[in-house]
Amino acid sequence: MRRIFLWAARNRWLKEHLPAMPFMQRAVRRFMPGVTMASALDAAAPLQAAGIATMYTRLGENLEALSEADEVADHYVALLDEIKERGISGEVSVKPTQLGLDLDEEATLAHLIRIAEHAATTGSYLWIDMEGSAYVERTIRLYERLRAVQPRTGICLQAYLKRTASDIARLMPLEPAIRLVKGAYDEPASIAYRDKRRVDSNYVGLAVRFLLDGRDRSIRLGLGTHDVALIEQIAEQVGSAGIGRDRFEVEMLYGIRVGEQYRLAKAGYRVATLIAYGEHWYPWYMRRLAERPANVTFAIRSLIP
Ligand code: FDA
Repeated sequence: MRRIFLWAARNRWLKEHLPAMPFMQRAVRRFMPGVTMASALDAAAPLQAAGIATMYTRLGENLEALSEADEVADHYVALLDEIKERGISGEVSVKPTQLGLDLDEEATLAHLIRIAEHAATTGSYLWIDMEGSAYVERTIRLYERLRAVQPRTGICLQAYLKRTASDIARLMPLEPAIRLVKGAYDEPASIAYRDKRRVDSNYVGLAVRFLLDGRDRSIRLGLGTHDVALIEQIAEQVGSAGIGRDRFEVEMLYGIRVGEQYRLAKAGYRVATLIAYGEHWYPWYMRRLAERPANVTFAIRSLIP
């Protein structure tokens, strides 16, 4: 089932036709407050009232013309202004291929620097998402160069990849900000763990080691997962070494395990919700369906108007 949805996420014909269907539009609303920037920012109010920070990403990936990247970068700059204007404690997250990584690495870096500089001046922060394995090396390279000029930046790394432990060691001298996720793409067994238990144990091991190794440095760790048992396991393991819950953040997606997001915030964890919005939601939504069969039942129920 997971592989079918990940295939569907990449299929050009489905990408052109499915998003226009009303039932798909109804179904995706569970994970997205709307397609506009305003709808995403409006969703911050109840979260902020509960002490939950927000992060924003405008959906889109694999641009086909570099000129489109200019518009995307302008959009993120305007988003940062709007976050500041509304007094929201919010950060932004962007995919490198949304800024043209398929076409021109130097131009992508220039866009990242522009957005990161603006994030810093508005008191915000820029995160770089991680895409499929073909992009990992280039994305890490971009982050190394970005971080050298703007420290208020972080990168997502995926625990299902076998290389991630050495990527963290490589980034350590930069005192990086890392958002650790399990990984959402279909990767071969030669480079990725495919067994859930193996991914989970690697996740815990990487998070704990990063916190222990970085205890006297200004690293930042976001646990980008809805797996509350893993979060609590990590908190317990580092807690016994004297590292408190204030040394990491829990980051979850809008609409997923909402009750847990509020519960963890109440229990003293630092929690942030990543809110996605925009017209180009199809591949992103397919990856959410791939993660959890129960979401497919929900999508099918949306067939009923
Ligand atoms: P897992 O899939 O084991 O789920 C744990 C529990 O959480 C499930 O039992 C279920 O209860 C709930 N759950 C998980 N997914 C759900 C869903 N879709 N719907 C409903 N319930 C669900 N990936 C990537 O490759 N690159 C990236 O840049 C990012 N960025 C990112 C940012 C943030 C803030 C998050 C939370 C996630 C990502 N991801 C990502 C996605 C990530 O790699 C992973 O695919 C999902 O988070 C699902 O895995 P979990 O860690 O939640 O665990």
